[in-house]
Amino acid sequence: MFVCKSFLLLTFACCALSKEEKRLFDPCYKDDIECLSKATESFLEKSYNGIPNTGIKPFDPLIIPELSVVVDEEMGLIFDFKNISVTGLKNQKISDFQMDTNKKSVVLKTRAVLNIVGDLKITFTKNNKEFTGTYTASTTALGTSQYGYSLTKKNGAEYFDVGPETNTCEILEEPVVTISDVLQNTLENDSDAQGMKADYETNKSSLRKKTLCKIVETAYVTIVQNLRVVGQLFPKSDFFVNI
Ligand SMILES: *[C@@H]1O[C@H](CO)[C@@H](O)[C@H](O)[C@H]1NC(C)=O
Ligand SMILES: *[C@@H]1O[C@H](CO)[C@@H](O)[C@H](O)[C@H]1NC(C)=O
Ligand SMILES: *[C@@H]1O[C@H](CO)[C@@H](O)[C@H](O)[C@H]1NC(C)=O
Repeated sequence: MFVCKSFLLLTFACCALSKEEKRLFDPCYKDDIECLSKATESFLEKSYNGIPNTGIKPFDPLIIPELSVVVDEEMGLIFDFKNISVTGLKNQKISDFQMDTNKKSVVLKTRAVLNIVGDLKITFTKNNKEFTGTYTASTTALGTSQYGYSLTKKNGAEYFDVGPETNTCEILEEPVVTISDVLQNTLENDSDAQGMKADYETNKSSLRKKTLCKIVETAYVTIVQNLRVVGQLFPKSDFFVNI
């Protein structure tokens, strides 16, 4: 059993970055969005399960173990999520890529159709009440990551060193959000929940979008972290012809 296991590990280690995967980055001109989109798509397709021994983490499904969202401070409404599963990130499309080689900064915009499932605890802080159930959503999100970079020399080549990023998100169109039946029924029977309903309904769309954006922004942390890892694995000339 053990022999078998270590053999498998070695196989993974040796092939973590096969020739084929290296070829996957046919370098692009930095302003050639079409080329960059294709390169990105094939990379996402190859790496969405993560690549062992490289630091490239799985991202489809992407699991967020815990996330707390203050949905509305005034209403005292908090959503605590557990075990959120986000699917669809491997099919994200680059919608814009701006690289400023003087300032050494990047603005990357991607669009993704996402399905989200997670365990939810709703807290009414003013009434000291909690309700639990499941949360399901499908949405189209536009994620924007901004980061600075520097170039570092390693073994005679230059590598991208991706700095800290800022992720922002916009939810396109009206998201579809549902909570489990039991949770729904419990809320419908609760007088405090009914008391908040009018306020919630007034802003429902923006409150939903805000909550979803927190999830999307959290998911993009892993996406950018993977970029950071990839920048250290391959020299810059694997990505760009003119930088
Ligand atoms: C997390 O969610 C996935 C599916 O969304 C489920 O298969 C898994 O059992 C859950 N894990 C825990 C610890 O709840
Ligand atoms: C909601 O209230 C009705 C009537 O009081 C009751 O029959 C039903 O079981 C309650 N449902 C839940 C989920 O508490
Ligand atoms: C709805 O949102 C707006 C802007 O975010 C806010 O000013 C307003 O108080 C909110 N209304 C309710 C009923 O919460």
